[in-house]
Amino acid sequence: MSEAILPPIGMLAELTHRCPLQCVYCSNPVELLKANREMSTDAWIALFEEAADLGVLQIHLSGGEPTLRPDLEKLIATLSRRGVYTNLITAGVGIAEGRIEAMAAAGLDHVQLSFQGAFAPTTEKIGNNRGAHEKKIETARRVRAAGLPLTINAPIHRHNMQEVPDFIELALELDAERLEIANVQYAGWALLNRNSLMPDREAVEREVEIVRQAQKDLHGILAVDFVTPDYFAIYPKPCMGGWARDAFMVAPDGTVLPCHAAGTIPNLTFERFGDKSLTEIWLDSPAFNAFRGTDWMAEPCRSCERKEIDWGGCRCQAMAIAGSAAATDPACIKSPLHAQMAALIDEAMASDKDVFRYRRISTPQPAGTLEPAS
Ligand code: SF4
Ligand code: FES
Repeated sequence: MSEAILPPIGMLAELTHRCPLQCVYCSNPVELLKANREMSTDAWIALFEEAADLGVLQIHLSGGEPTLRPDLEKLIATLSRRGVYTNLITAGVGIAEGRIEAMAAAGLDHVQLSFQGAFAPTTEKIGNNRGAHEKKIETARRVRAAGLPLTINAPIHRHNMQEVPDFIELALELDAERLEIANVQYAGWALLNRNSLMPDREAVEREVEIVRQAQKDLHGILAVDFVTPDYFAIYPKPCMGGWARDAFMVAPDGTVLPCHAAGTIPNLTFERFGDKSLTEIWLDSPAFNAFRGTDWMAEPCRSCERKEIDWGGCRCQAMAIAGSAAATDPACIKSPLHAQMAALIDEAMASDKDVFRYRRISTPQPAGTLEPAS
C-alpha cells in the first residue's frame, strides 16, 4: 500500500438477516444467517463503541429487517451518545406501536423506507407479502409524525420501472425529503433473479429522462437520487466509494466485510469482530488491503484517468462476470469483457421474466413461476 489508510466514515450494520419480506432483488447473500448466528446486544454495543473510536461518523442500521431486533433502541442510544449519525433502513412492515417514537427518543436521526412498488399489487408481488404496502404507508406517516426525516428507497427493475413517475408522486405524498430511484445491483438474490429483473433498453431510456426531469422540476422540494443501471452504463460506479476506502459493513454474526457481496470472492478470508478488533481488521486485514487504492490495478485501469473516480468499479461484479475480482469491472467500456454485459441483457430478454426465486433463510428454492403473495 502506497497511500495512508484513512479512518472509515460510514458503516452498514446488518443486524439480522431475518425479514418479513422475501424480495427477489435483495442484495443479501444467498446463504442467509439464522437468528442463532446473530451477535448479542453487548457485542454490537462493543463494536459500535469501537467504530466511534475509529472515526466512523454514520451508521446505517440495516438487515434483513433491523426492527426485528428488540434491542434496537438500546443500540441507537449507544450510537447517539457517541455522536454517531444513525440511519434506519427498514422495510416498514410489522413495526410495533410506539417503537418509532421510542427510536426517535433514543436519538435516531433518519429513516430510509423501501417500497417495492408504487402500488400495492407490485409491492406484494416483489416482496411476497400481502398487505405490506398499506403497512409501509402507515410507517411513513408515523416516521414523519415522530419528526424524523424520511427517504423513500425504490429499488427499480423490470417489474416496477414503469412506476417511476408514481414513486415520485408517492414520495411527495408521504412528505419525504429524498427519493432514491435505485436500479438494482445484481448481487446476492438479485444475481440469482437477474434474468427476471433485467429491464429492456427502451424502458431504461424512458426512466433516465423521467428522473432527470424530476430532478430539475423538484429542485428544493424533493431530492431525487438516481442509481444508474450498470448493465446499460459505459462507466462503472465507484462501488462502496472504493474498496475499503471510507466505508465497510458488518454481517449479523460480526464478520467485517468491505461490501455486501465480498463473500462471493474466493481466496479472501474475512475476519470477525471479537476474534480481531475493528481497528486491526480495518488497517491490517489482507482482504481489506487486497483492492485498496490503485496499486492492485492492471490495465486498462492502471493508466486510466478515471481510476480515482470509480476505483475500477465493483470487485464483486468483476468476480461474477469476468471470473476475477482483480479484473476491470465489465460495466466499463474499456473492459475487454464489456460486450458481455450486452450479451447478458440479450440472454435475459430471451428468458421467462416471471420466474422468481424469493429470498428465504434456507437453501434457495428451485426457480418457479411467480407465486401469489401469501
Ligand atoms: Fe474505471 Fe478502470 Fe474503466 Fe478506467 S478503465 S473507467 S478506472 S473501470
Ligand atoms: Fe463488492 Fe461492489 S459489491 S465491490
